[in-house]
Amino acid sequence: MPADPIEIRLLTPDEAALYRDIRLDGLRETPDAFASTFAREDAMTLAWFAERIVRGNIFGAFSGDALVGVAGYWPQEGAKVSHKAGLWGMYVRPAARGSGIGGRLIEAVVGHATGRVELLQLGVASGNEAALRLYRKMGFSEYGREMKALKQDGRYIDEILMVRFLTPD
Ligand SMILES: CC(C)(COP(=O)(O)OP(=O)(O)OC[C@H]1O[C@@H](n2cnc3c(N)ncnc32)[C@H](O)[C@@H]1OP(=O)(O)O)[C@@H](O)C(=O)NCCC(=O)NCCS
Repeated sequence: MPADPIEIRLLTPDEAALYRDIRLDGLRETPDAFASTFAREDAMTLAWFAERIVRGNIFGAFSGDALVGVAGYWPQEGAKVSHKAGLWGMYVRPAARGSGIGGRLIEAVVGHATGRVELLQLGVASGNEAALRLYRKMGFSEYGREMKALKQDGRYIDEILMVRFLTPD
């Protein structure tokens, strides 16, 4: 567990290098957890990461100056779908896991998204028990399964589709 108290806040575009580091570590450490790949994002510029911080509403969990966790939400574009957003990029560094940081990141995302979008959706690899339990605990419910959602090196991964509604009805 991290020694310092954890602060959760939105990242700013000038923190692109910090964000790039944790994002690439996540893609390298748990490749099955993400639709993207280390090879793809390792080739991207800092400006690309800065843009994703803004468009993807990325929250960071800080232990002192160290960024130990991230999660964001990405609103859909288009008049008929802009009430929906995807919760994405959830990652907590291994040494910081199991102390509630993942849950606090989701609370921060939900707090910011409420009033801006009406529901949060996500897809989680069917075998990712830690993430599935975290999302269930944080009020997400399953509404489907995307068969063969991801394919890597000829191996398929199904995703469990989950939603949390942010409006009373
Ligand atoms: C999933 C992940 C974000 C959880 O982060 P965390 O900070 O350890 O989560 P928390 O400490 O807030 O745990 C909250 C709940 O999640 C569940 N959970 C977390 N880790 C778990 C584990 N290893 N096994 C089972 N359940 C787990 C539990 O329900 C836990 O609540 P509890 O402690 O009251 O039982 C983290 O394991 C991670 O970064 N994994 C790799 C990347 C990933 O899978 N991202 C999700 C992509 S969809």
